Amino acid sequence: MEPIVSMRGITKSFGPVRALEGVDLDLRRGEVLALLGDNGAGKSTLIKILSGLHVADSGTMEIAGNPVDWKGYDVAAARRLGVETVYQERSLGEKQPLWRNVFVGRHLKTKLGLIDAKREKEETRKLLADVLGLKGAGLHPEARVATLSGGERQGLAIARAMYFDATIIVLDEPTTALGVGEAGKVLSFVERLRDEGRSCLFVSHELHHVHRIADRMALMEQGRIASIFERSEIGLKELAERLLLGHEGRR
Ligand SMILES: Nc1ncnc2c1ncn2[C@@H]1O[C@H](COP(=O)(O)OP(=O)(O)OP(=O)(O)O)[C@@H](O)[C@H]1O
Ligand SMILES: [Mg+2]
Repeated sequence: MEPIVSMRGITKSFGPVRALEGVDLDLRRGEVLALLGDNGAGKSTLIKILSGLHVADSGTMEIAGNPVDWKGYDVAAARRLGVETVYQERSLGEKQPLWRNVFVGRHLKTKLGLIDAKREKEETRKLLADVLGLKGAGLHPEARVATLSGGERQGLAIARAMYFDATIIVLDEPTTALGVGEAGKVLSFVERLRDEGRSCLFVSHELHHVHRIADRMALMEQGRIASIFERSEIGLKELAERLLLGHEGRR
């Protein structure tokens, strides 16, 4: 089966800084692909290109068989192709109630074209209960995001992506700064995505998280994909050693 995302020869510079130097990467259908590498290796830049936040300087990208025309490619275009990105911060408005966060920028409308707040709240309630399995008394559509734990916030952002039928979900360090229990929640949301046949590109520095859920692991070094491993090919210890080698290689 053809991959859901196929990137070839992607380059990107910021002024004199060469962030990406000819990246070839495929994301397969229904897989979790982890992107690993040192600080500054180019991981976030690569996923921002997929998400439509940055445009590549050169190279090609196909999403679900559609060649991307860089000229019209932005976050909205990426969403239309099924790409949703969850950032560690800033993806939710702290002071907004949950239901506003779910539908911001993509409101459900009444026949008259007005925002259908009633339906948005009802859909949020379903999302919390059915998708997230959050049934705590404090977790109703009117609750503020600020009342959610870190893992629940990430979960809400992931659930929102699922609600809008994203087929490709991009996560940039979703478990960083979370406690063990909260990180575990996020990992199980990612497993749920995969169970539904969706694909996930997961950037993380936390090797034990990555190794637990990723089907494949791509190592980036200085703007390139240095190697890709199937989970069955590499143990956690070996993975850590391999990353360290890349780090030493930079000196
Ligand atoms: N908007 C920008 N303007 C200028 N330079 C940038 C910009 N974004 C990234 N860079 C540079 O591009 C290189 C790759 O950065 P990137 O953020 O992709 O790394 P990363 O692998 O995500 O690192 P980290 O693990 O620290 O998040 C770095 O040298 C960085 O300083
Ligand atoms: Mg980054």
